[in-house]
Amino acid sequence: MAKQKSVYSCTSCGAQASKWAGQCGDCGAWNTLQEAVAQAVSDHPRFSGYSGDVTTIRAEPLINLEEEPETRVSTGVGELDRVLGGGLVPGSVTLIGGDPGIGKSTLLTQTLAALSQRLPTLYVSGEESRRQVGLRARRLNLPVDKLKLLTETGVERMIKVAQQEMPRVMAVDSIQTVYTGILQSAPGSVAQVRESAAQLVRFAKQTNTAMFLIGHVTKDGTLAGPRVLEHMVDTVLYFEGDPGSRYRIIRAIKNRFGAVNELGVFAMTDKGLREVTNPSAIFLSRHEKPVPGSIIMVTREGSRPMLVEVQALVDESHLNNPRRVTLGHEQNRLAMLLAVLHRHAGVAMYDHDVFVNVVGGVRVSETAADLPVLRAILSSYRDRALPEDMVAFGEVGLAGEIRPVPNGEERLNEAAKHGFKRAIVPRGNSPAKGRIGDMKVIAVQRLDEAIEQVW
Ligand code: TYD
Ligand code: MG
Repeated sequence: MAKQKSVYSCTSCGAQASKWAGQCGDCGAWNTLQEAVAQAVSDHPRFSGYSGDVTTIRAEPLINLEEEPETRVSTGVGELDRVLGGGLVPGSVTLIGGDPGIGKSTLLTQTLAALSQRLPTLYVSGEESRRQVGLRARRLNLPVDKLKLLTETGVERMIKVAQQEMPRVMAVDSIQTVYTGILQSAPGSVAQVRESAAQLVRFAKQTNTAMFLIGHVTKDGTLAGPRVLEHMVDTVLYFEGDPGSRYRIIRAIKNRFGAVNELGVFAMTDKGLREVTNPSAIFLSRHEKPVPGSIIMVTREGSRPMLVEVQALVDESHLNNPRRVTLGHEQNRLAMLLAVLHRHAGVAMYDHDVFVNVVGGVRVSETAADLPVLRAILSSYRDRALPEDMVAFGEVGLAGEIRPVPNGEERLNEAAKHGFKRAIVPRGNSPAKGRIGDMKVIAVQRLDEAIEQVW
């Protein structure tokens, strides 16, 4: 076989060069040239040229598709099925990302061991030895008599073995350790990760194998290999969670077969990851008595409501640029909320540092957090605690209006179920009766109204 030629391609603009250089000659970006395989378009596996007989090919109305029953395979782990959109789809490729030590290998060992009882499965480890994987499986009491393990990092050999074994479900731990002989660059480099993943994706699609790829996350929180992998796979799942806390959240960032932002919740125990099927209130920390700067919000990530505590600390600042620090919440959103607070409620914080934290390592990305965040900030600023039995949610607009959020009633029911007695919500989310069970619902329309309520 003729040796494949490599070229250098700019990760920023896509221009190609025959030699490596520090700066891209086309767009001028620095350090963006990466080695890649040179491939004439006509060599590309998906290119069949225009020369063949095209009379038999035609576009058809979408409605003419044959009814095919959906063939999802349950992983046996309910929370994982949930984030996948109801189970594994044969031929799909799922990328699982997360910090080192968060539990990616544990989850996949557990899942594949359970699946191996029903389907042929193959676990490929490029990071741990046979012994390490085996010891972990034994400690977790997993049924491993049928689970096949391969320790290998060369993608061509990996695929050869997989072609013999014909697994229905296969996992590769991790994609950063895999390399292809075509390229000279080191394993873990962008070109290697992309090319190896492309080969694995092609294998999954051709053989209808469900494939899991584990990916490491870089320091700035993205999957190594500037997002190239996210485009190639069908589903991207991220592990979230505090290193200190035992709870782990898996979130679907992209899903061609289901809803995004769906959450699966697990707890790390000495017997591996255990599902948390009713996670609604695990992120509440109970204080002995009410403390300033804390409020409970009802968030709805994915398809179920969850109660989480939002904390704020406002402190006098001696910096020219006071600090705006958020954990689990968006920093730009905080800056915007503080501006709204100043303009529409007359509370200025330009000489204060503001810290916002969502307890338990949860990341809240929805706008329903606006109102709780502002109330927590004000509570800390005024050093006055909010009632403990109160929840809040609502979006705050730039004009100082409180806007309704989706699924208000469901959120209120969840709060009432957990014994909360007061809820501050947008008028559009308030039930006609003004209460749900024992819980009084206070509807607000403007920010100044919202911050005066039950103080
Ligand atoms: P691991 O799955 O190896 O993480 P990753 O593959 O994402 O890097 O998880 C390792 C961590 O999980 C390690 O810190 C120990 C902890 N752990 C438990 O607490 N209980 C267990 O049963 C297992 C297997 C791991
Ligand atoms: Mg691992």
